Amino acid sequence: MRSILRAADYTSTSVFETEERALFRRLWILAGFRSLLDAPDAFVTHRIGGVPVVIQNTTAGLRAYVNRCAHRHAPVQIDDFGTRRLACPYHGWVYDGDGRVRSIPGNEANYGFDGACVAALRLEPVALRIVGGLVFVNLAPDPMPLEAQFHPAFLERAAHASGFVGDTALFAKFDAGYNWKLNFENVVDRNHVPFVHAASFASLAPSLKPPAPGTRPPSPPPQPDAEIGDDLRELSFDWQASFDLPSLPWHEAIERCARTEDYVNYFLYPNVNYIVMSGAIHLIQQYCPAAPDRTEYRITMALGRRTKRLPAAPAILWSQLKSEKRVIDEDTVVLEALQRGLANDAPPAFHGAGEYRLRRIAKVYRKLMEAA
Ligand code: FES
Ligand SMILES: [Fe+2]
Repeated sequence: MRSILRAADYTSTSVFETEERALFRRLWILAGFRSLLDAPDAFVTHRIGGVPVVIQNTTAGLRAYVNRCAHRHAPVQIDDFGTRRLACPYHGWVYDGDGRVRSIPGNEANYGFDGACVAALRLEPVALRIVGGLVFVNLAPDPMPLEAQFHPAFLERAAHASGFVGDTALFAKFDAGYNWKLNFENVVDRNHVPFVHAASFASLAPSLKPPAPGTRPPSPPPQPDAEIGDDLRELSFDWQASFDLPSLPWHEAIERCARTEDYVNYFLYPNVNYIVMSGAIHLIQQYCPAAPDRTEYRITMALGRRTKRLPAAPAILWSQLKSEKRVIDEDTVVLEALQRGLANDAPPAFHGAGEYRLRRIAKVYRKLMEAA
């Protein structure tokens, strides 16, 4: 059957702008690992639904603000992450933990603001929730409860796993030439793995290898469209596979939340996949919409908390990141080519009954977009 999403949903600027409003400025968005923001003045920045956001460990605790100075709107933090006080780099205005202007260098000589005026100047706050080791933000003025977006039991499992994340991590980002929705659809689509990742990822996962000749893969339950609900919480789920992953000596130095062979995905609609490998490596993949046909792909790869010294930690993360990038590159080749072929009058995608998850994503997406 045909998807209810049209090609234009992946290519049109007006659809993209509605998504920024209806999805990204309304839903909870996973912003990163809590443990990487433990140091005083540690921060991370994002662009969510077209709005710059900074999440900063302040004297008042972890806070999120629109990353736009109250003076002339320069970003208060420019880098993707770092450790730096909450002060605007343009004219040096300094903010306190509650986002209020604490000092304005040369106020009298350069600006002439009186006390009442300065007291009213502040950064715009953004809602923030911490779940285990995960930090979520929401740009809505009156955010929906987190539990309306994610099943509580799912959040509990993600909270448990992420509670093991340590403070050693690598960050990478790159541009991908396709619509962000293709990425979420791709990660929940297991059918592509034996073909796109035959030589990499699939070779590690017995359950994902193509079936031997003469054997039939188990067919998923047929799911007529009428039975597919439009519950937003159903779009986020976890999925566990057993891989042929070796037990490695450095695993001993890490506090682990799962067994060596476990590979767990937590899909967090709309744009994140949180993966835990061997209970020891925690990976967040974020598909941040940049344009209808451009996605900023951000990867944060962290080790679990260390129980002993591990001088090789950076080398371990670097080699894991390289393997991860290889798998992502395999997807990117296909998704970028798919995007290039999407003319607005192309027919919608054709789904089988087993692809009910993709149809559910489309159904909920339509509902969210129409509500806007
Ligand atoms: S724009 Fe921030 S201090 Fe001027
Ligand atoms: Fe893939």
